[in-house]
This record gives sequence, structure tokens and C-alpha cells, in this order.
Amino acid sequence: MSGQIPQRFIDDLLARVDVVEVVGERVKLKKAGRNHSGLCPFHQEKSPSFTVSADKQFYHCFGCGAHGNALRFLMEYDKLRFPEAVEQLAGRLGLEVPREGADDPRAQARERKRKEGVNLLELSASYFRERLKMPEGESARRYLAERGLSPEVQQTFGIGCAPAGWEGLKRHLGERGIAESVQIEYGLLVHHEDSGRTYDRFRDRVMFPIRDIRGRTIAFGGRVLGDAKPKYLNSPETPVFHKGRELYGLYEARQADSRLERVVIVEGYMDVVALAQFGIRNAVATLGTSTSEEHLSRLFRMVGEVVFCFDGDRAGRQAATRALETVLPQMIDGRQARFMFLPEGEDPDTLVRREGPAAFEDRITCASPLSEFLFDHAAEGRDLATIEARERFASQVLAAIGKLPEGVLKSLLLGELSRRTGVDQSRFEALVAPAEAPPGEPPLAPEPEWRPEDEWRPDDEGYEARPAPSKGRQSLGLMGRVLQLLVHEPRLVERLPEAADWYPEADPEARLCREVERLLRAGRYRSAQVLLAHFHGTPEGERLAALARRELLIPPGARAAELDGLVEHFQRHRLRSSRQEEVDALLSKQQRGERLSQEERQQLMTLLADPRG
Ligand code: UTP
Ligand code: MN
Repeated sequence: MSGQIPQRFIDDLLARVDVVEVVGERVKLKKAGRNHSGLCPFHQEKSPSFTVSADKQFYHCFGCGAHGNALRFLMEYDKLRFPEAVEQLAGRLGLEVPREGADDPRAQARERKRKEGVNLLELSASYFRERLKMPEGESARRYLAERGLSPEVQQTFGIGCAPAGWEGLKRHLGERGIAESVQIEYGLLVHHEDSGRTYDRFRDRVMFPIRDIRGRTIAFGGRVLGDAKPKYLNSPETPVFHKGRELYGLYEARQADSRLERVVIVEGYMDVVALAQFGIRNAVATLGTSTSEEHLSRLFRMVGEVVFCFDGDRAGRQAATRALETVLPQMIDGRQARFMFLPEGEDPDTLVRREGPAAFEDRITCASPLSEFLFDHAAEGRDLATIEARERFASQVLAAIGKLPEGVLKSLLLGELSRRTGVDQSRFEALVAPAEAPPGEPPLAPEPEWRPEDEWRPDDEGYEARPAPSKGRQSLGLMGRVLQLLVHEPRLVERLPEAADWYPEADPEARLCREVERLLRAGRYRSAQVLLAHFHGTPEGERLAALARRELLIPPGARAAELDGLVEHFQRHRLRSSRQEEVDALLSKQQRGERLSQEERQQLMTLLADPRG
């Protein structure tokens, strides 16, 4: 029974429970002024930045941004789904959870229907899996072996096969009392209009069950064993399956890592499965369609970062253009989208087998941030030395920026556009100003109020809120910026001074930076991938990968100057600190009552007069 829980009940419940009590049962809290505070249970920390407010009835972590009310806390901490969290809270107060329409016959019929469909699809999935073990599955087994799919990954993805006959599944389901009309409705049986005959839709194919986020089979994709057409046959739209919403592999990705932070969107079933077999378990595929707004909004509710993976050919670039258009409106602050292109003639399946998972991971890490792809794409095929080309370049970029929600990314891109075109930023800002926004609104969209119904609807069960980002966007530091520039553009290493004396000794990242410099200077290949491969699996490697993932919002033409500026800063700073030491030494000598020589006194005067040199 799963009618919707009335909002009134939820509001009432939240008014009656105390979030401090709920949290306090699970996290050690100390009273601090009006609030309580403790160590955040959602990220690793040594000093408490997690606070719970009794007045406002919510918790907030200043470290990782975790935030919410008592219900959300239970969902995240106890890993409950929304209705379960409601049950829990209601249980504390001895209340029964009411369900809307629980006694409405139409709602009951709908619910029965849904169960019937799910049941039928589960039955079919196990039928296909069983066939794969039988003699009739011989050719499919051989095909899967030829494609190099391990038995483990076949099991993880519940892969099976449809036998060659016309009525195997039909008979199997019929014997279990499932009417043909229902089999037709759920796309398993095809009704031939002219002859009136019915037969199995999927025949002689490898079968991939498509699962919803809770692991329930909602549809199938079937691949021919040879070169016949169509290569893949998918279930049609049914009461439980909408192609434009579902992503193959999302359930499996979440199973592999419930704290998923990033997904890679690839094209095909085989790509998802092959990547998973090689340990890259966060790939998902759209089902023969391009990525839709709905796909993305679902994904962004779970993860902060989406990486689009495209073939290197023209079709791939076109698909990337479409993906860019779709993702722009969703880029609120804190979300990231990146774009990667594979070498021509390869797909993730072939590439991960040829290059191995570490190299593929490095490709993911080096994927272009949205900003970079946007500018590169607009500049493509244009000679930006001419005014006309720059004008068209600017209007293309502006059109894209206009689709972005208000936020940091939008302002950064406008700034970048102005630097690249030499046109004042305010002129561009006027062109993309959102018509409906009232003046004086803060530049950052406030975080929308969290509502429980955003996270659970009867037909959307299991789409839980994504955990608050834990590893945040802490500030880079100046040495971090040097590193980031080198990772994004390794050939810049040539700009660094030959002598390494500009590196600040106290900076912990300077050591890594020196090592990176050494490798890049020595290496024949100055590529980020080689660099990442060198440090793979070490904390330094993680640091570099994180830097590579961060958007570098400095236009390519300005990067060298930026690096020069940073190095100069360090040189100046070093000079300054050595001067300071000298001043300190002279002053303390004087204070100890020792006489300064004439030269020393002169030196002290000079230093004090102009400490910057
Ligand atoms: P591809 O043609 O790129 O195939 O289709 P693939 O994924 O590399 O498959 P293999 O390696 O040859 O087995 C990419 C995706 O497009 C959809 C499927 O979802 C497929 O995974 N597609 C393709 C169809 O729906 N129907 C088709 O006939 C072909
Ligand atoms: Mn393929």
C-alpha cells in the first residue's frame, strides 16, 4: 500500500518532533549558546562544525553543507527512504501514517496494476536469466564470452537471453496466469494486426534488464547475436517505462557506491557493462536517445558532477552540442558538467579493454569543464582575428550563457567572454540579464527550501536526495593555482624559472609542484594523463586529479601570464621574507645591547625605509 502521505500530516509531524532529540540520539551534541554542536556525521572532521538548531528545527554543517530537518536527517543518517523516515518519526509519537486515497478504488486499481506489471517484468527477467544457463542459451553464452563479459558482471547486471523460438516467454508467463493483454501492455508480447497472432517481442537476443533506481526491472534491451538489424531492441513505452527518463546502469552504479558523487554518461549498454567489469562502476547510458533534461535533473539530484562521454567523430560532436544545450539551464552553483571525447573509432567498451581502466579513469579526470568546451566549441572553425568572427563567437557564447541560471558560473563566463573579446563585461551583462528577475536580487540563487515531496513521489520512489558534497570546493591557495595551471596545460612548465629557488619552503604543496615540474621537464609527453598516471593511486595523484577536475576559468591565451604572475609573487614574497629575517636579526642584535657596525646600521635604515625592496 503506497498512497501519498498527506502533506498536512508531514507538517504536523515535523512540528511535534524535536530535531535536537532525533540527532542527539545518534550524534554526540554539546549545547553551545542557542544551538547544539558536534562532529558532523556526514564528513570526516576533527573539530565540530555541525550545528543543530532547536529554534529553527534544522541541522547544518558548515564544513560540508549537509543541511535539513529531522526527516532529512533520518533519511541520510539511517539511509531510509522518505516514507520509511516518516514511519519512524510517526512511530516515536505513536501515530499511524495516513495515506491519501488509500480507500479510493481507482487508486487501488492503479496500485494493483503497477504491481502486476512489476511482477510480470521480474518473472520475465528471471526467465531470461534461466535460459542463459540452459542448452538453448549456448549461442548467447558464446557471444557474451566472445565480447569478454565476465560471469560476475553478467550477474551484477542480471544479463540473460531470449531463446530463438516465437512463444517461449508467452507460454512461460501464460502458465503463471498472466493474461496476454498484460504481456502486450508491458511490451513483452507483440500483437500482429493482420494475422491476429501474438509472439514474443524478444527472440534470440542477449537480454539486458533495465532497472529503476530501486532495482525493479521496468524494461529490457535485447542485442542480436550477430549483425542483424536492429542491433538493439528496446521495450516500448509502457506504464512503467519511459525511455526519455531512464538511465541504464544507474541502479547498479548506486549499488556499487551509495555515496556516488559523479556519473559518466556513455552511449551503450555494452559500454556500461564493460566499464563496470573493469572497476569503473559509475557509468550510465541513455537508451538510444540523447540525454534529456529529465535525465539530468534526476542525476543532479543524486550527484554533483556529470561527465558526458562522446565518440570522437562528427556524430559525437553533434551529440555533445545537444548535451551542452540541455545541461546549461541546470548548472546551478555546486553542479559540474564535463565533456570527454574518445578517439575516433572507439567506444568506452573497446577503449577500456585496450587501454585499461587506469587510463580510462585519467581520460575522465581530464575531461573538459563545461566552460572550456563552451568556448572551444564557439571558437571552432573561426578565425578570431577578424571582428566579424569575434562577433559571431561572442553571440554564440552569449546565447549559451543566457541559458544558465544566475550564479557564479554565469558571472565567470561573462568575465571570460569579456576578456576574450575585449568588450566590457557590463555590455554583455545587459544582453543576458534575465527579464523576469527583479532588480536588487542577490546574485546567487538561494538554496531552494527543501521539501520532502521533492525527494519522494509514489511513482518515483527511491530517488533519494544526494548526500551533501563532502569534499568541497575549498580555496586553492596560490601554489594550488600553479599546480592547477600545470595540470591543465603541462607545456607551461617551460615558463617556470630554471632555478627552483622561488618555491616557498613552508608550502606543503611546493614539494609536489617541484616533482610535477621535474616530471614534465623530463618527459617526452607533456600531458596531464601521463602525469596522473605517474601519481595514480597516491594522495598526490588524488590531489592532482582534483585539480584537473576543477574548472580552469582562465582563457588559454592568459594562462602563461597568470603563471608568470604567480611565480613572480612567490619570488617577491621570498625576497621579502629574507629581508624581514635580516631586519629581525639586526633589530634583535641592537636590543641585546650589541653595537651595530656602521654598515649594519646603514643596511637596517635601507631595509626599514623600503621593506618591499
Ligand atoms: P551503438 O550502435 O553504438 O552500439 O549503440 P554499442 O553500444 O557499441 O553496441 P555493441 O558494442 O555493438 O554491442 C549505442 C546504443 O544505442 C542504442 C542502444 O541503447 C545502444 O546501446 N541502440 C543502438 C538502439 O536502441 N537500437 C539500435 O539498433 C542500435
Ligand atoms: Mn560498442
